[in-house]
Amino acid sequence: MVMDSTKRARKAAALRGFPPHGLILGGLSETVRLAKGSWIEAPSAVQARIVNGAYLRVGAFCNLNGGTLNNIVVGRYASIASGVVTGTHEHPTDWLTTSRAAYYPELYGWDKLAAGAEAPSIHSRKAYYPESCPITTLGPDVWIGQGAFIKSGVSIGAGAIIGARATVVKDVPPYAIVVGTPGRVLRLRFPEPVVERLLRVQWWQYSIYDLFDAPMDDITRALDVIEDHVSSGRLAPFEGLVLRDEELTDLPAALARLEERPLALAN
Ligand SMILES: CC(C)(COP(=O)(O)OP(=O)(O)OC[C@H]1O[C@@H](n2cnc3c(N)ncnc32)[C@H](O)[C@@H]1OP(=O)(O)O)[C@@H](O)C(=O)NCCC(=O)NCCS
Repeated sequence: MVMDSTKRARKAAALRGFPPHGLILGGLSETVRLAKGSWIEAPSAVQARIVNGAYLRVGAFCNLNGGTLNNIVVGRYASIASGVVTGTHEHPTDWLTTSRAAYYPELYGWDKLAAGAEAPSIHSRKAYYPESCPITTLGPDVWIGQGAFIKSGVSIGAGAIIGARATVVKDVPPYAIVVGTPGRVLRLRFPEPVVERLLRVQWWQYSIYDLFDAPMDDITRALDVIEDHVSSGRLAPFEGLVLRDEELTDLPAALARLEERPLALAN
């Protein structure tokens, strides 16, 4: 599905209007539709190219800078560098052929061209290959380095780091640093008791701007401050404005609605 030039121009103009609302959505410039249930929470920057028809969920405060994304759920505060690829389709490895023509005979209309009147009978005999692009999950505060490849369906735990050029084909535990091909855990970002505290506190449910009296560069003291704020009821979870799939596929209309009634991002 391609956009005509008028639609493309309207969409490009709308995309320029979102940053004041906390949304940078350049990655959607060629995306005509998103799967039902998709959403993006503001503020967030989605500059990675989003594949047409993708299932996409992106939490607030993400910086998805480059590469290509498809069928992915991204937790808050995640960062994706340029050249990252995830959401590629798997082909069968143990069939007669790996070619999509075997399970998608209508590919480019080849069924009608090559099989003619036999095309309907071919469809009725085709084998079903369902799991070609399962959903990939990135936890909150995940950072993916330049040029990494993440196999579709992998889950990357909260706070994990994927090194530049890594090839990730298996799930990654929270707060692990993974490098290489195939990806291997280099170490955890913090000692295990600290990781357990981080997973208990789930600081990403708050706005980072409510946490600035916690020293960012001293994890133990930061957790002390956040835990203290939580127990004294001084922190309220952040709830960002959410644009859903139907709005994300009609950006000019979504922008018009926002400009009519701007929604405050702060709690
Ligand atoms: C993974 C990363 C965060 C690790 O940083 P670090 O903790 O400072 O790691 P070090 O440089 O101390 O390296 C530790 C070991 O991991 C190896 N290593 C580090 N990064 C690697 C990578 N991307 N691929 C393969 N091995 C890597 C080092 O060779 C070293 O191995 P050794 O112990 O056998 O000598 C970093 O190297 C990286 O890849 N950053 C991504 C940067 C990026 O893509 N930025 C884009 C802008 S968002």
